[in-house]
Amino acid sequence: MEKSSEVSGFYKRPVEERLSFVKEWAGLADEEVATLRNTGGLPLGTADRMIENVVGGLTLPMGLGVNFRINGRDLLVPMVIEEPSVVAAASNAAKMARARGGFTASFSGPVMIAQVQLVEAPDPEAARKAILARRDEILSICNRQDPMLVQAGGGARDIEVRVLETSMGKMVVTHLLVDTRDAMGANAVNTMAEAIAPYIEEWTKGRVYLRILSNLAVHRLARATAVFDREAIGGEGVVEGILNASAFAEADPFRAATHNKGIMNGVSSVVLATGNDTRAIEAGAHAYAARSGRYSSLSRYERDAGGNLVGTLELPMAVGIVGGATKTHPVARIALKILDIKSAAELAQVIACVGLAQNLAALRALATEGIQRGHMGLHARNVAASAGATGELVDRIADQMVKEKKVRADRAKELLGEYSRKK
Ligand code: MEV
Repeated sequence: MEKSSEVSGFYKRPVEERLSFVKEWAGLADEEVATLRNTGGLPLGTADRMIENVVGGLTLPMGLGVNFRINGRDLLVPMVIEEPSVVAAASNAAKMARARGGFTASFSGPVMIAQVQLVEAPDPEAARKAILARRDEILSICNRQDPMLVQAGGGARDIEVRVLETSMGKMVVTHLLVDTRDAMGANAVNTMAEAIAPYIEEWTKGRVYLRILSNLAVHRLARATAVFDREAIGGEGVVEGILNASAFAEADPFRAATHNKGIMNGVSSVVLATGNDTRAIEAGAHAYAARSGRYSSLSRYERDAGGNLVGTLELPMAVGIVGGATKTHPVARIALKILDIKSAAELAQVIACVGLAQNLAALRALATEGIQRGHMGLHARNVAASAGATGELVDRIADQMVKEKKVRADRAKELLGEYSRKK
């Protein structure tokens, strides 16, 4: 009989029932069900309350970025990622930055944007003025929605109103600028946007459709900079190579996408480790990279008077340390404890520094020996382990495969057979 994926009320069933269902559906073995049920540092019951239709969890490795010195303070950075080499590369770049004091970071403030889309206003320009004229009233209506946020020193701060030409005619777009303090702030700003919508309709005689935050958080920018000592990074030739790599990314969207992906390797791994929303940060980063109208690189490099390399990175960083998974996920809470930071502003700055470190490491490798040698070593260890190698055989087989330039499952199996027989 054909299977049906139509299951009503699946979300209401207990996890065990869902597991039985998927076991039968996919023909899972008992051990596979047990693996699914093992949700690692996140209790199954907590997972079940975080999202819908839960049947398990997927644990990714958490590594510690070491050597980081940021604004004069040493710290360890938890990074969660499936890709080999990322944590090692960031740590290596952080070490190189130490020669000249480490990273300096700053943050523009935790101001989030919520958008209210108004269509069919009889006179869009007049509507814009009518909304602007009620700025103070708008702010007070918004702030009534979240007394806790206001008490914590945050709240709606200002508004911006634009008339937008679109394929559906003119729209009047209101931005609520909200200081969300230590929260990512999605709930706070979305509630405010929904609360203000009926008023905007009444004042303008138009119709509101969307009321939602913008991930292009241009009032919530994290900035990182570091001087990479010329000798510490490998000399004049390396500086020149990185400057050329940077110019390439600045000029070419094809290269910029990959350049920025490398930055996001560092950024997203810390965002994930702390239970923040990786998609929000990625959407914001890429939109910011295209703010001139042409997609470009997020970082910039220049040479200082002493011939050292100065790197800077600026990107929107809407992260929180209260609420959401940052609060509910026990591992995210431990990650925040390891970081020993007291505010979302501090977290945003750390993340920007890790992004810059990651970028420097990638460009340095790419501009010199290429990344494959470093990558292959780690990849080879994974291949060896997947082929069944354990203990010291993992390294022996990996080293041999790299030497032979044959990093493949079949070769790993052959070597495993060979070495096991010799043992
Ligand atoms: C790989 O995950 C990231 C890199 O491609 C970044 C870059 O090319 O700059 C190495």
